[in-house]
Amino acid sequence: MKRIGVLTSGGDSPGMNAAVRAVVRKAIFHEMEVFGIYHGYQGLINGDIRQLELGSVGDIIHRGGTMLHTARCPEFRTEEGQLKAIEQLNNHGIEGIVIIGGDGSYRGAKALTERGYPCIGVPGTIDNDIPGTDFTIGFDTALNTVIDAIDKIRDTATSHERTYVVEVMGRNAGDIALWAGLAGGAETILCPEYDYDMDELIGKLNRGHDRGKKHSIIIVAEGVGSAVDVSRKIEEKAGVETRVTVLGHVQRGGSPSANDRVLASRLGARGVELLLDGKGGRAVGIEQNRLVDYDIIEALAKPHTIDKKMYDLSSELSI
Ligand code: F6P
Repeated sequence: MKRIGVLTSGGDSPGMNAAVRAVVRKAIFHEMEVFGIYHGYQGLINGDIRQLELGSVGDIIHRGGTMLHTARCPEFRTEEGQLKAIEQLNNHGIEGIVIIGGDGSYRGAKALTERGYPCIGVPGTIDNDIPGTDFTIGFDTALNTVIDAIDKIRDTATSHERTYVVEVMGRNAGDIALWAGLAGGAETILCPEYDYDMDELIGKLNRGHDRGKKHSIIIVAEGVGSAVDVSRKIEEKAGVETRVTVLGHVQRGGSPSANDRVLASRLGARGVELLLDGKGGRAVGIEQNRLVDYDIIEALAKPHTIDKKMYDLSSELSI
């Protein structure tokens, strides 16, 4: 393969830039040409494609967001959109693409692979919900953002002796809630993977109150529902005053952590190696600190799971 493309798609995540840099530099190291496809699949359809050089990716390793921009692209789900994309790839002589993004981006990669275009999926999303990898690029940075917020909320929660309900992102996955809740010492963590019992939650709050603990932090993954609804129910049933914080898109920004930069560099470079080996339709990941790759179609079919032992531990430690 002599000419490859790289694109970022779906919700941005800190470390995407580091991954783009790794793809470009690794490819040039191996004497390939690299083309940046701007604005995700929409840019691919529109032909928003430019060659990238070593210097094009200088000074980006520490920046959040993605220099290639990103988009959600309903048109790419249609046959017409995919055929337009393939026409653009042919016009530019691009023989394979590294696609950095979440599960929607993987579905796009799968569609192109099925149409005969070698694509490699690199997991870039704060949600950590991609099967076939222990961690996705951006998850660690998002966690640190959430923990920073929880620590600050804890100060005011303690001062005012209130219950705070904090809503975090994650789409249908509870990883951000679980990891941030454990690291932030939250009293209760609500994840979509496990049902919760409101009476149990209230019972725990009351037991804490009886012991003299007047403040609590409850983390709600967005996949469970709205933190406002949860807090309303708590106020009605427990009669305690609550406040709600929805962290929102602040979780997607910021300079990537060292872990995310290293992960992005390793995974991006591995994507290029697979294309060099003439492989397409693969999803790269990291498992137990080892780089792995799976058939992208099989990876997509696997269910996403979160660590039950960690969930149980969080309950035990917040007794
Ligand atoms: O997938 C990343 C993510 O931030 C999810 O956690 C969230 O549900 C979604 O994207 C928000 O998407 P948008 O930025 O399009 O509102």
